[in-house]
Amino acid sequence: MAGKRILLGVTGGIAAYKSAELVRLLKKAGHEVRVVMTRGAEAFVTPLTFQALSGEPVRTSLLDPAAEAGMGHIELAKWADQVIVAPASADFMARFSSGMADDLLTTLCSATTAPIALVPAMNQAMWQNTRTQRVVSQLAADSQVLIWGPDEGQQACGDTGPGRMLEPEHIMARLQSGKGPLAGCQLVLTAGPTREPIDPVRYISNHSSGKMGYALAQAARDAGATVTLVSGPVALAAPSGVQRVMVTTAEEMLAAVQQALPGCDIFVATAAVADYRPATAAGDKIKKTAEAMSVPLVRNPDVLATVAAQPNPPFCVGFAAETRDLAHYAQDKLSRKKLDMIVANDVSVPGQGFNSDQNAVTVFWPGGQQPFPLCDKQQLAQALVALIAERYYAKTTS
Ligand code: PMT
Repeated sequence: MAGKRILLGVTGGIAAYKSAELVRLLKKAGHEVRVVMTRGAEAFVTPLTFQALSGEPVRTSLLDPAAEAGMGHIELAKWADQVIVAPASADFMARFSSGMADDLLTTLCSATTAPIALVPAMNQAMWQNTRTQRVVSQLAADSQVLIWGPDEGQQACGDTGPGRMLEPEHIMARLQSGKGPLAGCQLVLTAGPTREPIDPVRYISNHSSGKMGYALAQAARDAGATVTLVSGPVALAAPSGVQRVMVTTAEEMLAAVQQALPGCDIFVATAAVADYRPATAAGDKIKKTAEAMSVPLVRNPDVLATVAAQPNPPFCVGFAAETRDLAHYAQDKLSRKKLDMIVANDVSVPGQGFNSDQNAVTVFWPGGQQPFPLCDKQQLAQALVALIAERYYAKTTS
């Protein structure tokens, strides 16, 4: 990556101060950096800071005769090998996604043919509102655009949630992993259990901890993919640099997956989704009056089968948790759900599968299979991601 020409766009947000450190790290790694600031960014950091760190004049205005006499904006757009917008505000992303070119940065982003990485930073409520998410989905479906982050956690305004800008070191890692086997891929992954309410205090669920799915989300991120993790209720923190959407029930999981699907190249279903849910959830806590009771159950939607049945489905990877006849049941699911790959684990063996730190699996695909012996879920996830990348490219380039 050394020697890249990086155009760094800085938009208005408190995270703009972190971009000064990003410039320092980019320069240290041997990149040439030119910085463009929006008017909003100038309210947080001065152009002089970026000028001192980049060693280049900072551009702030489209209609600046002196700057245009040096390197004009079209020349600057052509100069860049990579554009990074960090922080990318909600306002900038909305203007950019709608095709506007009403300031220097949106104009450059419209004029460049270089990959554009957006590193969002905003208040968690702004990030989660449906209008922002609509813009993000639209941008995520654009093959020139990558969305890195945001992280979850404590925010400058005191809120906690998704919307923190990735740390500069992490942005550097994403830049390096641009060379990874899943670079440029959008990957959606389900993880953890679902909970199906019986009444306000009771539910049907299973022993999934989310460890396998979260390890895969991290491995896919490290392989260069942009990852959306749709997670059932688990006690794990969101992996840094992965967009996490928390859900409770199977129906919510399906809705969140469908929202994340535009632009998705690879879908991995690690979640242990409840196959059935109570036909109705009681509004109040059910009282212990009868000697016996039964709860009528109805079938839940099958998230994976629904995705695989789409007209142009992503590369679909399922998991199969079995207690006997592993190969038989896994291969049956592979063909019945029309999958590209299935990862089968024998959950009857203590110390592997549900809620353990280790797992052993056999992966099946049409015409092939590969066993992976017992190892840590992180290690297994890296090996699985390498195989997914291999099979994905074998399919898409054949
Ligand atoms: O979370 P951990 O504690 O780390 O445990 C990992 C795991 C054991 C949960 C994981 O490795 C695993 O096997 N996940 C799939 C478990 C499962 O429910 O398999 P299944 O055979 O019921 O479903 C087959 C596939 O269809 C799975 O990819 C599942 O996500 C998907 N499915 C199933 C039912 C449904 N309604 N919707 C689905 O998407």
